[in-house]
Amino acid sequence: MSSDPATATLAPVTNRPDYGKRLLPLWALDPAIAYLNHGGYGATPHEVLAEQQRWRFELERGPTRFMQRVLPEALRASAAELARFLGADPMDLVFVENATQGMNAVLRSLEISPGDELLTTTHVYNAVRNTMRHLAERFGAKLIEVPLPYPLHDPQEAIDALAGHINARTKLLAIDLITSPTALILPVAALAAKAHAVGAQVLVDAAHAPGQIELDLPALGADYITGNAHKWLFAPKGTAFLWARRDRQAGLHPTTISHGLGQGFTTEFDWVGTRDPSGWLATGAALTFYRRMGGSAIRAHIHALANEAAALLSERLGGELGQSPRLRGAMATMRLDGFEGQDRPAALALNDRLWREHGIEVPIIPFSGSLWVRISAQIYNEMSDYRRLADALQALRGQ
Ligand SMILES: Cc1ncc(COP(=O)(O)O)c(C=O)c1O
Repeated sequence: MSSDPATATLAPVTNRPDYGKRLLPLWALDPAIAYLNHGGYGATPHEVLAEQQRWRFELERGPTRFMQRVLPEALRASAAELARFLGADPMDLVFVENATQGMNAVLRSLEISPGDELLTTTHVYNAVRNTMRHLAERFGAKLIEVPLPYPLHDPQEAIDALAGHINARTKLLAIDLITSPTALILPVAALAAKAHAVGAQVLVDAAHAPGQIELDLPALGADYITGNAHKWLFAPKGTAFLWARRDRQAGLHPTTISHGLGQGFTTEFDWVGTRDPSGWLATGAALTFYRRMGGSAIRAHIHALANEAAALLSERLGGELGQSPRLRGAMATMRLDGFEGQDRPAALALNDRLWREHGIEVPIIPFSGSLWVRISAQIYNEMSDYRRLADALQALRGQ
């Protein structure tokens, strides 16, 4: 392996023993910390950051020429590469900064009338809940948050919970492909079909999906899908996409209106004012890295690792797991019994102690009256990370 982290590369990874801590030098991650929150913000490998930096220099060599002559085509080429990876037509996909922005673009483009219902679940990402609440209050619509059984073991339970709330007043169903606080893969395609049957639109929040699970955007049957490349696809921070079905694109606008208004979906979103486009342009490098490290083998490995880790934690701590393996990607949750407090301050305090006293970064999440730990599994993790977490939780329990 090269000693220069920016150019460090490895031979193609073909089997499980090649994954694990030995890969950590490919990232800037502090090797002293067991990093179990890849789902939080992703982690970008050195070689992708180097490609991002290359684009920054390219821009700064001639900002005017770059922005006006180079960027439009380079950006479309990058979007096309991401679109093809996600099974989509490049004309249907644009870059946004993050999933929050993608969700906002769709929600704030909706024509909402008093009495309309905006439907989601209690597992919705809080920023998205806020956006929906804001719009419901502004337009006299109703926000409906449907509780799902949790722990969830069968996708049909989620369908049954939501089905009774999908009706002629439903303007939009906003549904997570993988939920944030609870790490559940939801049956999005089946729910989209139900929503369409009553004329509702369907917005899928796939923030966590690209790179974590197999993803074919059109196959979800949604009207709109947003997702992050900066989490599980290793792209630089601020790299996400918004996909829209062709017939929905005319009414859809970025959260920042700029020169392209009315000139078509990709034109409107491709320029939203002067910004650093280097992350979007380095998406190809992230995809190259992802493929070289195994592509589908990554997904298979991190799913297996999450399952093994979840089973270990549950065995050691006796806590209930939040989802069965079939509803799990590369994240898992476990209820923490016997710990002090159930609220956000208690969660933050435990998270901080795990980091300060045990060198473990892992989110602790208050949800439906309990604290839950949410682990992520990435190819730089190995079982020893989760054993360390189990040891730490056992030591901290009851303190
Ligand atoms: C379901 C869901 N939606 C949206 C987001 C927000 O992602 P971002 O911070 O990239 O906007 C997250 C982040 O974890 C998420 O889990």
